[in-house]
Amino acid sequence: MSKIAIMGAMPEEIEPLLKKVENIKEINYANNTYFEANYKGKELVIAYSKIGKVFSSLTASTLLEKFSCKKLLFSGVAGAINPALKIGDLIIANKLCQHDLDISIFGHDFGYVPEGAKFVETDKALREIAKEVAKENALSLIEGTIATGDQFVASNERKAFISENFQADALEMEGASVAVVCDALNVPFFVLRAISDTANDDAGMDFDQFMIGSAKISANFILDMVEKID
Ligand code: ADE
Repeated sequence: MSKIAIMGAMPEEIEPLLKKVENIKEINYANNTYFEANYKGKELVIAYSKIGKVFSSLTASTLLEKFSCKKLLFSGVAGAINPALKIGDLIIANKLCQHDLDISIFGHDFGYVPEGAKFVETDKALREIAKEVAKENALSLIEGTIATGDQFVASNERKAFISENFQADALEMEGASVAVVCDALNVPFFVLRAISDTANDDAGMDFDQFMIGSAKISANFILDMVEKID
C-alpha cells in the first residue's frame, strides 16, 4: 500500500492528527521528527516542517524521497484575503504562488522566475475528495488561490498587493514551496487551510487566539479525507 504524507508547519497543526492515529513510530532525520503511523488501514507519515518556505521544502522533499510517500496532504491555518472567508472557514488551494518572489526589475511578473511558473496547480482528484468530505459533513469549502511568502502578513497594504497581483483568496507561509517540490517530483498533492486571521492590523492577536482551534478543524478534515484515498 502506498504511503500518504501529511504535513503541517507548526506542532499545533499536526498534534490533532497524532492524537487520532495508531502505531506511531518516531524517526529523527535532518533535524526533524517524522511520525510513521496508521489510520483506518492507511499508512501515513506525519511531520511539521517549522515555519516558512525553506523548512517546508526540506520536509516535503524528505517525505517524498526518503519516506517514499506517493501523495502529500498539507494541513494548517491561513490568513484570509477573500472577504467571504471568516475565522474557522476552510479553503482548499486549486493553485498556489509565491507572493514574495520578485525579479520584477527585469520585467517579469511578481512570483515568476525563468523555468518556474507563477502558479502551481494542486491535484484535482484530491480536491474532489475534499469536496465529498465537505458535502458529507455539511461544511462550506472555498476553492481558490493561496499565496505563500516568508512573512507573516498583518497589513491591509500587503494584502492589497497580493490580491491585485495574484488574485489570491488566502495567504500563508508554506503551501507554494511544498507545491513546487511535489510538482517537480510528480507526486499528487493537496493544500487545506482553516482561517486563523484576516492578515490585517489585528492578525497577530487573532492568530494567537484562533490558531489552535482552526488547526484542529483543518486536521480533522484531512483525516476524513485519508479514509477516502486509495
Ligand atoms: N498563516 C496564518 N495567518 C497568516 C498571516 N497573516 N500571514 C502569513 N501566514 C499566515
